[in-house]
Amino acid sequence: MSAAAAALLRVRDLTVDFRTDEGWVRAVEEVGFDLRPGRTLGLVGESGSGKSVSTRALVRLLPASARIAPGSSMRFRLRSGEEMEIAALSPRDRRLRRLRGGEIALIFQEPMAAFSPVYTIGHQMCEALFAHPEAVGGRLSRAEARERAVEMLARVGIANPALRFDQYPFELSGGMRQRAMIALALITRPQLLIADEPTTALDVTLQAQILDLMQELRAEFGMAMIFITHDMAVIAQIADEVAVMYLGRIVESGPAREVLRRPKHPYTQALLRALPRPEAGRRRLVPVPGDIPSPRERPAGCPFHPRCAHRLPGRCDRALPPVVEVGDGHRVACVLFAEEGGR
Ligand SMILES: Nc1ncnc2c1ncn2[C@@H]1O[C@H](COP(=O)(O)OP(=O)(O)O)[C@@H](O)[C@H]1O
Ligand code: SF4
Ligand SMILES: [Mg+2]
Repeated sequence: MSAAAAALLRVRDLTVDFRTDEGWVRAVEEVGFDLRPGRTLGLVGESGSGKSVSTRALVRLLPASARIAPGSSMRFRLRSGEEMEIAALSPRDRRLRRLRGGEIALIFQEPMAAFSPVYTIGHQMCEALFAHPEAVGGRLSRAEARERAVEMLARVGIANPALRFDQYPFELSGGMRQRAMIALALITRPQLLIADEPTTALDVTLQAQILDLMQELRAEFGMAMIFITHDMAVIAQIADEVAVMYLGRIVESGPAREVLRRPKHPYTQALLRALPRPEAGRRRLVPVPGDIPSPRERPAGCPFHPRCAHRLPGRCDRALPPVVEVGDGHRVACVLFAEEGGR
């Protein structure tokens, strides 16, 4: 079986525009990647690079002002084996309800966004089970649902799970809420978990605990994960594959170890230089020079050229650099590699 045939998710040419007072603005452009079952893709890039928009497109949770451009493709293989073209669904398609929560679950930086404040944690977990009978092996009784929810709360490391089941989200501490959000997302055993910077607001210790927990659960449940972060250190810890985004485009992608060890794109190199270095004694951060422009002011040519120390005048500011395969599955969009066999 080819890698493409085995994919759980195949994204091609995903382009998302927003209607604004100043016209259409392109937030995500021609994004493509494959995700196989049970694998973790790390999506990394500075704030505003299009990580959230591209993954929200996958569950069609974009604001009304957004448009998925024609030609975009997001093919997802359902549990039933059927392939679904997510880009072709109408926003009101009933199949989206099955997809969201049942097949693809999301967690965010802010757990309160995942919960309703007016229902108990347990009630919300049971409702998720009742909403997705196809995902949990059929209709459950209240008692069965409760049992599964309490078990899941215990599994994510919440002490006194039976007591927490009857509590409201605001009654939990920040760290516990984060765990409860993971429990709510995973109660339906989704095939894919999208984790949008779930640890960004946490202190270092809690961040490490939650990352460990997520890795355990990913392996135990055999689900695939898209983990969004702006932190390369998190990628090193959690991702099998990595895609580096800049101004709405993937500029480098490939096996995480390879990309982290031998980064090719000047932007990836800059992100890695911005990591704290323990061997330097004190944490020394070298920020990526310059600011990411607004997508409204997307530069012509290579989007990174105004900030790139290696730019070739007359070339990098004219045409989009070709995507070049520089190693097994390792791709980079930069003219510096074009001679090595670009297309
Ligand atoms: N509701 C919106 N209206 C207009 N533009 C938006 C909206 N949401 C996001 N964008 C644009 O999309 C770009 C990418 O946003 P986002 O995916 O949230 O970035 P990231 O998650 O990488 O920080 C932003 O820079 C912004 O310009
Ligand atoms: S294409 Fe040019 S500007 Fe863009 S990253 Fe490569 S060298 Fe820098
Ligand atoms: Mg985001």
